[in-house]
Amino acid sequence: MNQKSIFLFILLISLSVTNAIPLEKREPQFDDCSGGNFANAQFINVAMSPDPLVSNQSVTFTVSGTLNHDIKDNGLIIAQLDDKNGTNIVHFPDHATPSNAGQPFNMKTLPHTLPVIPANYFLTVFIVNPTPQHNDSTDVIGCATVKVGSF
Ligand SMILES: *[C@@H]1O[C@H](CO)[C@@H](O)[C@H](O)[C@H]1NC(C)=O
Ligand SMILES: *[C@@H]1O[C@H](CO)[C@@H](O)[C@H](O)[C@H]1NC(C)=O
Ligand SMILES: *[C@@H]1O[C@H](CO)[C@@H](O)[C@H](O)[C@H]1NC(C)=O
Repeated sequence: MNQKSIFLFILLISLSVTNAIPLEKREPQFDDCSGGNFANAQFINVAMSPDPLVSNQSVTFTVSGTLNHDIKDNGLIIAQLDDKNGTNIVHFPDHATPSNAGQPFNMKTLPHTLPVIPANYFLTVFIVNPTPQHNDSTDVIGCATVKVGSF
């Protein structure tokens, strides 16, 4: 390649990279929701299919990470949608695969059918070890949340 075509080649690569970024940014980016009410929670990675969610269609969540707490035999993955006011729209509990603290995990939920979803909503995914006392501060060991739409 002469110098001119190398320059063009690099220009084309940087154009394709800058074009790709806005596409990726359209996918919701999950934030940490540990702390506050969820003192024991740590951030978990969440992916879903389809992404973004579609009203009336089926969705599957994939949750991965490493936690400082065991995921117990009765552990749950709970994915929930809340509207802009924080009112619950739907929540999907699935059995989690038990795993030891410090051990990386990667779990996929069953498919769930979504209801009609509004333009603006919160999507939150929890890993919970339920107890009879229902203490959010200790039971919730993993959490990630995203705001979808305009807030
Ligand atoms: C979803 O289902 C409801 C109830 O069956 C229907 O009224 C609505 O039009 C559907 N919406 C979409 C986007 O498919
Ligand atoms: C949120 O609350 C406001 C004030 O109570 C209400 O007008 C609005 O309809 C609510 N929005 C939703 C999505 O429920
Ligand atoms: C939840 O557990 C925390 C930590 O053990 C404790 O400080 C708090 O009082 C408990 N909350 C309730 C409502 O029992």
